[in-house]
Amino acid sequence: SWFLLGRRRRRQGEPPLENGFLPYLGCALKFGANPLEFLKEKQKKHGHIFTCHVAGKYIHFLTDPFSYHALMRQGKHLDWKKFHFATSAKAFGHGSIDPAEGNTTENFHQTFIRTLQGNALDALIEAMMENLQYVMLQSRAPKLQSHTWVTEGLYTFCCQVMFESGFLTLFGKEFNSNNDKNLSSKQETERAHILNALENFKEFDKIFPALVAGLPIHLFKSAHSAREKLGEALLHKNLVKRDNLSELVTLRMFLNDTLSTFDDMEKAKTHVAVLWASQANTIPATFWTLFYLLKNPEAMRAATKEVRSVLESAEESVSLDGKHISLNRKQLDNMPILDSIIKEAMRLSSASMTFRVAKEDFTLHLENDFYNIRKDDIVALYPQLLHFDPEIYADPLTFKYDRFLNEKGEEKTDFYRHGRRLKHYYMPFGTGIAKCPGRLFAVHEIKQFLALIFSYFEIELVDSNVKCPSLDQSRAGLGILQPSNDVDFRYRLKCL
Ligand code: HEM
Repeated sequence: SWFLLGRRRRRQGEPPLENGFLPYLGCALKFGANPLEFLKEKQKKHGHIFTCHVAGKYIHFLTDPFSYHALMRQGKHLDWKKFHFATSAKAFGHGSIDPAEGNTTENFHQTFIRTLQGNALDALIEAMMENLQYVMLQSRAPKLQSHTWVTEGLYTFCCQVMFESGFLTLFGKEFNSNNDKNLSSKQETERAHILNALENFKEFDKIFPALVAGLPIHLFKSAHSAREKLGEALLHKNLVKRDNLSELVTLRMFLNDTLSTFDDMEKAKTHVAVLWASQANTIPATFWTLFYLLKNPEAMRAATKEVRSVLESAEESVSLDGKHISLNRKQLDNMPILDSIIKEAMRLSSASMTFRVAKEDFTLHLENDFYNIRKDDIVALYPQLLHFDPEIYADPLTFKYDRFLNEKGEEKTDFYRHGRRLKHYYMPFGTGIAKCPGRLFAVHEIKQFLALIFSYFEIELVDSNVKCPSLDQSRAGLGILQPSNDVDFRYRLKCL
């Protein structure tokens, strides 16, 4: 009956409770409008832990970075899969991927680690290097003729280049069995298919936050049809017609076919989930990195110098005669300045949230105190609080390209708060057991993108005084935020 939808009372030993004003939505509206401000305000009022009633769920926010570790240690009371599994099924429309529910016995997390890290990563990097150059040079050739300037939105550009090359890297190229068609028209057809997939991806991605919040996809007609079309493109019968599928996709197809009872469309939707995970954060992260570089000439000089010197020691020369640059994993790993720049851009734009669901009533022990948590409550971290903490990062809203470099020019790992060294100071990829399995690949692909841009193009903002776009808060909690508006830039092929 109606009162079951009502608020609950705080019990002894529980964190301070914020019910919000609306019976069902609770704090959702205020939280949604600007989570960072909302959480800072509640932190001031209640201290380092408090409970928010958000859209029918009770979420305990831990805001003290020294508590993060305590949370990780008490993992046995907390479930990280339940929330992820349920969210994925809801958003992408496949059946439950929780082995406990009997549709599949695949351990997805294990599959991702196996195919995105270790030796598998070398192959991904190699394919991405090739595909990025194909996309930047061949696929955009008509635009680039005669070394004239091309003006475009920077976000649009990053979106097209990363989506097209990332898509080719994971899902391979269309089979070239049909000999009577000439190569370039085949490439054009392929490109049209991928750009079409990009349009569907964007249409679907727009409403992703609403799906995570629990709204049914039927409310969004065009996004629903976009998701179905992405699914159709990734049906196994279409994937088998492609060349150079990644190990990730090959293995996932095999496991779908052998360990699951999913129907064809559900199998395809598990691939849509992988496509989304591989692109949704990478695209804005690439945009922010390049944007901050274009706004900071000193950072740009340091970055281009590093790339040049790595290319020189790899004895790679840059030319436009069709011979592509190749940099392997080891060479890319030797770019501490780019690492620092990418980290700094993500520090400023990431708003991921870490969720754990309480498996049972238990007592959460923090450093100096403890709290009772009820079964099915959520314990959450919001690392943007950490990323924007002026005690940890002086002048936190300013881009400083060398913030993650030490005096020796190597990776800086010592960050302090109240004089105490932090174990967790940088968390765009989450932390603990559910940490992003694609994080190494993500950083490599952004580095590759930058190295190639610097090598082949002259590039500049149309208006060098353009204001930094604000962060679009509609995706807060879900990863890297998108810019709220695009920024014009221009580029042209270098005369090599
Ligand atoms: C999960 C961030 C790129 C594959 C996640 C999570 C975050 C994240 C925060 C959730 C972790 C948690 O809940 O604690 C990012 C960021 C990226 C990026 C910031 C780029 C800048 C990628 C790429 C791939 C990928 C390129 C694959 C090619 C995945 C997968 C999961 C995941 C498969 C789900 C893991 C699981 O549930 O087992 N990512 N990611 N990510 N990411 Fe990424």
